[in-house]
Amino acid sequence: MSEIRCIGIGTGGGDAPGLNAVIRAAVKSAILKYHWKVIGIPDGFDGLIWPEKTFELTLKSVSGILPRGGTILGTTNRGNPFQYKSSQNGQECVRDISDQVISNAKKLGMDAIITVGGDGSQKIALELFQKGMKIVAVPKTIDNDLCATDVTFGFDTAVTTATDAVDKIHTTAESHHRVMVIEVMGRDAGWIALHAGIAGGAHVILIPEISFTVQNICDYVRRRDGYGKRFTIVVVAEGITLPLEMKHMVRGLPVGNMVGDAIALLSRKEVRVSVLGHIQRGGSPTPYDRVLATRFGVAAVDLIAAGGFGKTVCLKGEHIRAVDIADAVGQMKGIDPHGELVEAARAIGICFGD
Ligand code: F6P
Repeated sequence: MSEIRCIGIGTGGGDAPGLNAVIRAAVKSAILKYHWKVIGIPDGFDGLIWPEKTFELTLKSVSGILPRGGTILGTTNRGNPFQYKSSQNGQECVRDISDQVISNAKKLGMDAIITVGGDGSQKIALELFQKGMKIVAVPKTIDNDLCATDVTFGFDTAVTTATDAVDKIHTTAESHHRVMVIEVMGRDAGWIALHAGIAGGAHVILIPEISFTVQNICDYVRRRDGYGKRFTIVVVAEGITLPLEMKHMVRGLPVGNMVGDAIALLSRKEVRVSVLGHIQRGGSPTPYDRVLATRFGVAAVDLIAAGGFGKTVCLKGEHIRAVDIADAVGQMKGIDPHGELVEAARAIGICFGD
């Protein structure tokens, strides 16, 4: 018999479309299936520093949130209770307030906690678990770079948004005979760039996992010109490593702009750049993300009921599973440069600049 009566749930790190779908699913199944009380923890673990800011989540509070982007709980990517930053006498100081966080969770009657977050939040969850907190995690990021799970929710929505942008830029690129560069998010992994690039019919895709030269890109642009294709779409992942030939360029600009400038200089073509930015994190989650997020929320509650603390839910193939957070954190899942997806892109003539 489970001894759980009340659980807390919080969202940490950058937001991703589908967070509200996880919250809704967890609240609904905790109440309907297990008759537990659910408390919402605002702004990641920060919400446990000020317990008076927490609030009960009822069926009514999660009604209508499934299609909404963002998170009704709020989030932060700076709230680490083991290295909590505050200012004292005008000086920034860093303290470990994890004991306070654990004791506040107990005072609020939380028997266990669900944390929905990326690698950073999962590392905090692991440390809290090691200090005795009953915690389970749900992996989240638009970057799709967590090794614990085949797919993270939010990724499909980000790819859909980025693909829509590539589609729109296609028509104007073709009309003006321009090289159009589109920079997408993804941190140190090229998943969004590769998927949106293939889905949007990009001609060049630059990802952190494959090194490129500007010369190779310009040779490719010239070959396209040679057979009458006077425009080129270049999708650039924000985390690419710049080649030596670009190291002298002024830093501080988005990499998309730097790549655009370098191509313009060498190819003498007209180039325009779009940096998509946070538009990729916003908006309503796609049906795929809503379903995955719902499955994760339900699985996290089931994991608590089964006593599977210190674990994170994940997708393996078609199935929802759980793995130890300890085995999941600190390892980034990048693209295999010789994998099937890259080979398929090469087979249809996509250039990676290598
Ligand atoms: O990890 C998600 C992500 O959107 C990355 O793709 C991006 O590099 C980063 O977060 C941006 O973070 P912030 O919102 O703090 O600028």
